[in-house]
Amino acid sequence: MNRNGIGADAQRVDGVDKVMGRPIFAADRILPRMAHAVPVPAAVGKGRILSMDLSEAQSVPGVLLVLTHQNMDRLNPVGFTFAGGQAIQAYQPLQSNVIAYRGEPVALVVAKSLEAAWEAAYLVNVEYVPAPFTVEPDAPGAETVVQATALPWFHDFVCGDPDNALSGAAVVVDQTYATPRQHQNPIELQASVADWEGDRLTVHEGTQASQAVQQGLAIALGIDPGKVRVLSPYVGGGFGSKNSMCFHSVMAAVASRRVGRPVKLVVPRAQVFYGTSFRAGNTHRVRLGAEPSGRIVAGIHETRVQTSRFDLMPFTGAETTSRMYGIPNYRGAATLVRLDTQTPGFMRAPFEMGSFFALESAIVELAYRLGQDPIALRITNDTQVDPISGKPYSVRRLKECLVRGAERFGWARRTAEPRSMRAADGTLIGWGVAAGAYPALTAPVAAAIRLGADGVAHVSVGGHEMGQGIRTAIALVAADELGLESEKIRITMGDTNAPPQHVTAGSWGTASAGPPVQEAARAIRVRLFELATSTDRPLAGADPARLELRNGRIQAPDGRAIGITELLQGAELEYVEAESRRLAPGLPPDALNRAGKGLVTLAGPEYPDFVALSYVAHFAEVRVDPRVPRACVSRMVSVVDCGRVVSRRTATSQVYGGQVWGVGAALLEETEVDPRFGGFLNNNIAEYQVPVSGDVRNFEVDFIDEPDPQFNSLGAKGVGEVAAVGAAAAIANAVFHATGKRVRDLPIRIEKLLA
Ligand code: MOS
Repeated sequence: MNRNGIGADAQRVDGVDKVMGRPIFAADRILPRMAHAVPVPAAVGKGRILSMDLSEAQSVPGVLLVLTHQNMDRLNPVGFTFAGGQAIQAYQPLQSNVIAYRGEPVALVVAKSLEAAWEAAYLVNVEYVPAPFTVEPDAPGAETVVQATALPWFHDFVCGDPDNALSGAAVVVDQTYATPRQHQNPIELQASVADWEGDRLTVHEGTQASQAVQQGLAIALGIDPGKVRVLSPYVGGGFGSKNSMCFHSVMAAVASRRVGRPVKLVVPRAQVFYGTSFRAGNTHRVRLGAEPSGRIVAGIHETRVQTSRFDLMPFTGAETTSRMYGIPNYRGAATLVRLDTQTPGFMRAPFEMGSFFALESAIVELAYRLGQDPIALRITNDTQVDPISGKPYSVRRLKECLVRGAERFGWARRTAEPRSMRAADGTLIGWGVAAGAYPALTAPVAAAIRLGADGVAHVSVGGHEMGQGIRTAIALVAADELGLESEKIRITMGDTNAPPQHVTAGSWGTASAGPPVQEAARAIRVRLFELATSTDRPLAGADPARLELRNGRIQAPDGRAIGITELLQGAELEYVEAESRRLAPGLPPDALNRAGKGLVTLAGPEYPDFVALSYVAHFAEVRVDPRVPRACVSRMVSVVDCGRVVSRRTATSQVYGGQVWGVGAALLEETEVDPRFGGFLNNNIAEYQVPVSGDVRNFEVDFIDEPDPQFNSLGAKGVGEVAAVGAAAAIANAVFHATGKRVRDLPIRIEKLLA
């Protein structure tokens, strides 16, 4: 296999730095005279501050500043990301004595040492006047909003006449499924190091949205965005929690300006549960109507999902379910419920984790009602035409994912009857399958490459490395064209001094950044060949189309060769450079400018001529002790169709991650709310349960790896999120097969299997 080009199973380009613990992450940065900041969270569910006593806090040696609503800068409003702004939510704390939700910061203590800041933070005394609040969707005070009415852009997805078709269907499944609130919990906490030099602000922050942080800070503080530079070369996991400007960045910037020192603000884990978004709890009513043959004639998917008092966070999970199968009569719709928390937002496969848990559970319930194999049922309802738009899919290899996965998993050996498969010791064994899809989206990206006479290529491009492997993928694309080892490729990204940094999310990073990098690299290669073959040059007269570029040398078929260094030096050039900007079909011409303003700008999944999604089929085996019915996942096989695989190793890791997230969502994860006091009860990673090594065994990953050339010139679609779509449903379906118990609300813990 090609060791150093597109599709290679290459080591991560940043692997050594990470293993060596080099300080490439924001919170590892230590600047001279740097002060440390610790926020103080509100301790009531809602209300207002009556008084604050800061005397004890201020008397701790080393304390430089205590910011409160009384002395905080008055900020300009910054819009919510999904209302055309840059912020994780429209609401800004510390602007008045009002408390909108438990956990919002009421003070920020800045001190010469982290220890002093912590000590003083505990000594900030606040007297509150509590007010009634609502944190549960069915409790009094919850306010319901019909999404399609309030947010016309996020309309219902409808084709045919679903109500009529459903009432005429021979077999109907009508069930309600629920997925809980979840928090992203990346290993790297939210962190910002703010550093002013005169009126110029530099911010080191692990963010998926450096441009949004830059622009949002400039707006909030009323300064020229050209004076703000945000650097996010590496992110220690984001999963959606770092895809907009969060309030800690504003607090760090204001604090640093006040104390005249760099300020490091690392949000403590307990406060990260409030300091950014989270995945809202969803309730899904799914109705499917089928003919006895298995042909599904109608589907209605209605979701009820939480939002906040101040923002309407849309839910688009039923858009993806409406485009999953060839169901001719379908309606997907959402209702939002306003509650007193921060605004919920994106968490890996933000909508599809829930909507496909619902759909893919319902599909298997339907298969049992029909007495059909669930893979056969899905294949019966496969399609190459999107039922909503009537447009063809670009490349859709869902069926191949199912067939290959079934083979690798050994599905043919399954006996369909629940509780029919057991290990020798009596342990119940269950096998489950689910499919998933995720929109193939594209952000506008510009790339510039400069290849120096030293044989090193500097790539400057939009995007953020959050562990998903985009740097490795980009290095492989550039290496492929430039014939260089990936060590000779230096990548600048996540830097607002580079080309516009699109919000890197929604699995669009590599698919968006890869094509312009490829195009710019190709232009450099063409330029090198022109140089080499022109008159008086070493390869004069050779046919450029027959040259090869490898290991920094250009080779002609007649045996002549020249190194890049020698070629450029001979031409008295320090470097050659090229640029490319790519706008996906359907993007407005000003899309790159919008990205430069830190705004989310996207095309897809419906493009002018086609509809594009990535697909997956997950197969799970669970084991359940019949006496203590705790389900464990003992095996998973997942097969992904994400077009061409650019970086095999990091793509494979993404799919492992999706499987692990499936285990978490299916069996463990839930953020509990406290109806008495507001806020989240288990705001730590001891009680917010995620899978650990012992929960992860025998995971296998495979790719169809067929390029999707209509989608983009690289033929590559996203992989990071589709990997997590349907994984929880496969496990829930396996639990049903093992136990005969259909659990429709996640997570599936012991108590739900005892009942
Ligand atoms: Mo994300 S959930 O792709 O920011």
